[in-house]
Amino acid sequence: MKTGIKILTTLFALGLGSQVAAKTCEMSIDSTDQMQYDKKEMSVAADCTEVKLTLTHSGKLAKNVMGHNWVLSMTDNMQGIVQDGMNAGLDNQYLKPGDDRVIAFTDVVGGGESTSITFDVSKLEKGGDYSFFCSFPGHYALMKGKFIVN
Ligand code: CO
Repeated sequence: MKTGIKILTTLFALGLGSQVAAKTCEMSIDSTDQMQYDKKEMSVAADCTEVKLTLTHSGKLAKNVMGHNWVLSMTDNMQGIVQDGMNAGLDNQYLKPGDDRVIAFTDVVGGGESTSITFDVSKLEKGGDYSFFCSFPGHYALMKGKFIVN
């Protein structure tokens, strides 16, 4: 009897422990043939430890013509990432391979496609200056927004 209670207590403690340790927050954003995201701003609560982000492309154009991805970085790093990504090509999602300025990124999708990623946000700073953008050449002028950690 006593042993049974101990095991139950331990299982309960383990369950609670893992709930405190990880909180996955879901986010989604759409993109179009008009070279636009449907959001200019995305915010995440500071107690989220990871984000599951889904990018959809509700247009019709192929990804080599009107491809979109979703890249997250410090705002100061955005321009450099885009510049270096331009020559990396579609096979590399228009990102320099191993670019450590990139916090998270999705693959490039075309019309009718979608993609999801899960990434760690536990190290992002509350109130830090982060931006999301598309690294397809020429797109970031229109396709960018603020990523806010509340
Ligand atoms: Co794009």
